[in-house]
Amino acid sequence: MDKIIINGSYPLKGKVKVSGAKNSTLPIMAACLLSPSKFILKNIPPVLDAYTMTKLLSSLGAKVKWLNETTVSIDSTNVKMWKAPYQIVSKMRASVCVLGPLLARFKKAEVSYPGGCVIGTRPIDLHLKGLEKLGANIELKDGYVIARAKELNGKAIYLAGVYGSTVLGTANVLMAATLAKGETTIEGAACEPEVVDLGNFLIKMGAKIKGLGSPTITIKGVKELHGAEHTIISDRIEAGTYLISGIISRGEVEVEDINPKFLTVFIDKLIECGVKVEQTAKSIKVKAGPNLKPLEITTLPYPGFPTDLQAQMTAFLATIPGISFIHEKIYPDRFMHAAELLRMGAKIMREGATTMIQGGQLIGAPVMASDLRASAALVLAGIAAKGKTEVNRVYHIDRGYPKIDKKLASLGAKIRRVKA
Ligand code: EPZ
Repeated sequence: MDKIIINGSYPLKGKVKVSGAKNSTLPIMAACLLSPSKFILKNIPPVLDAYTMTKLLSSLGAKVKWLNETTVSIDSTNVKMWKAPYQIVSKMRASVCVLGPLLARFKKAEVSYPGGCVIGTRPIDLHLKGLEKLGANIELKDGYVIARAKELNGKAIYLAGVYGSTVLGTANVLMAATLAKGETTIEGAACEPEVVDLGNFLIKMGAKIKGLGSPTITIKGVKELHGAEHTIISDRIEAGTYLISGIISRGEVEVEDINPKFLTVFIDKLIECGVKVEQTAKSIKVKAGPNLKPLEITTLPYPGFPTDLQAQMTAFLATIPGISFIHEKIYPDRFMHAAELLRMGAKIMREGATTMIQGGQLIGAPVMASDLRASAALVLAGIAAKGKTEVNRVYHIDRGYPKIDKKLASLGAKIRRVKA
């Protein structure tokens, strides 16, 4: 397993381009199952999760061909299988988003029940509730979700749960509803840009959808869909991660090819902290001001502060004198990064789903990556820390960050990847 070694406390300076959004790519690839057609997807991030999803589509019978590093053609004409195997779903729980498309196309689907992961139990009860409302009969057998339906009929569905809206739950129900008879209204729908991107792709395929980006999405079912070409939106979480690399190192970093509207609350918090932010329609530039102030942050569904930037923000706040608080409202256990940051001298106290962070100097240390965003937080901490940091098990990072070592090195980070 590779590891990343960083010699820290050098300010990063320069520009970095963001790649396509992983969390848009995965449901959009799944949507290619809805119609026996050809698709071209551009600006795909070259990350493990994207390859895993293409392997899943191939296992179902799709023909997948990479035209270059970020463009893939998917021909789902000969997809005959409707079963997503444990071997793949257990590696990437987001595979669950093939459930809706397979059910809509074949009126049956079998998907291994996704397990939890280090950030939480990750239930899919809301996905199943939404598909049942459309007319599916759902049973759990031998660790598989088995969905069957004579036909799918449009319904009014309230899809939010105790933690608010569900991103992939909205994606699954949205995709299934495109081929249901009649009109479906999803109340409490997720508003994330990645869900809007999926919806725009479905509209290109001939779906009739209104209300994308709002908590109420209306879908008029159609008889069939067709092929389409689509360019994936940029990854707002990758963008936020590189912006934090600039301010945690007290440097100056500009992220290109990102719509600042995807990061409104995040930018608002940086300004509150004393970070200088300049933005254009397609870029964001940050520079740490002289007196950075501690913050109180609560993660919420979009447009609230993204839980996927919580770990990275914890690392940044661990370098700001004073007491900061983070309330994690989406995944109350999403604190694996805290234990590793403590090894680097961070002063973090956890009480339930809240952490109190007392800022100070971080010191390099060998640390263990545990999940995608926690790993990114450890790399960021290594950039700020005095001395050497070794981040082990970087395959977690490779799931969602294309060439993170190369992109950070281009900003002046003293970082290298070694084969362990
Ligand atoms: C998506 O996961 C993202 N993954 C996650 O990003 C992200 O953290 C999450 O949305 C929240 O923004 C992808 O898009 C591939 P949810 P998803 O359903 O859809 C609860 C990353 O780092 N819930 O929006 O699985 C759930 O437990 C990953 O890129 C239910 O209770 O998340 C959580 O508390 C990590 N029942 C909350 O809702 C359900 O049926 C939000 O989960 C579904 C979810």
